[in-house]
Amino acid sequence: MRKPIIAGNWKLNKNPKETAEFVAGIKGKLADAAKVEAVIGAPAVNLQTLLDAAKGTDLKVASENSYFEDAGAFTGETSPKVLAEMGVNYGIIGHSERREYFHETDEDINKKAHALFKNGVTPIICCGETLETRKAGKVDEWVSGQIKAALKGLSAAQVATAVLAYEPIWAIGTGETATPEQAQEVCHLIRETVAGLYDQTTAENVRIQYGGSMKPANVKELMAQPDIDGGLVGGASLQPESFLELVHYQD
Ligand code: G3H
Repeated sequence: MRKPIIAGNWKLNKNPKETAEFVAGIKGKLADAAKVEAVIGAPAVNLQTLLDAAKGTDLKVASENSYFEDAGAFTGETSPKVLAEMGVNYGIIGHSERREYFHETDEDINKKAHALFKNGVTPIICCGETLETRKAGKVDEWVSGQIKAALKGLSAAQVATAVLAYEPIWAIGTGETATPEQAQEVCHLIRETVAGLYDQTTAENVRIQYGGSMKPANVKELMAQPDIDGGLVGGASLQPESFLELVHYQD
């Protein structure tokens, strides 16, 4: 069965000192790692501090972005090879903020997915629609199109281990959460898309997260949906208390 995965995405928040304080606040209090995987995605400048602080705990570490080349004349970019060498477990790619503010394309995201896999870092690949797309009734074609583009050329074995994060843009940081039914509908569509591209086994293995104002008050009902295997959480992952409540949603 798929192990639930609750991943924080800190975005451009916290410095190294605050990072270490956060980990001190959750140390010894995480949920049973056999029941749920707990991950924090931090800005690149905080990753080493996060890795050091997380040593000896079950907390896994994610980058928030990485480039598709390992090295070279690419000023300002983050190498997926170095992330792997550091011991980073997951790499978030294709977040809607990267797509919108940094003009990342589906093709970039696909290249980044390949680069992460090549280096042994598991991608968390984001997708999701705007309110306009939803109102136009085009959620299915938009989201399945993003998934197909992101997974292009990846093997079934790779996709089975990947994490796909459905984040409706209208629910990110707005306090407005998709209803469990809305979230389930699209997460199911994503699984069907994977089944169509690969096979039923791959679709049953890939983990799908919901993201968009997930918080302690709504985590249970979202996680109760059959195709939702986790959360990608912004605001509610910033404080140890609320992050702990999220990872303990089964208690
Ligand atoms: O990656 C996380 C999402 O953008 C959700 O952010 O929980 O603050 O709405 P949020």
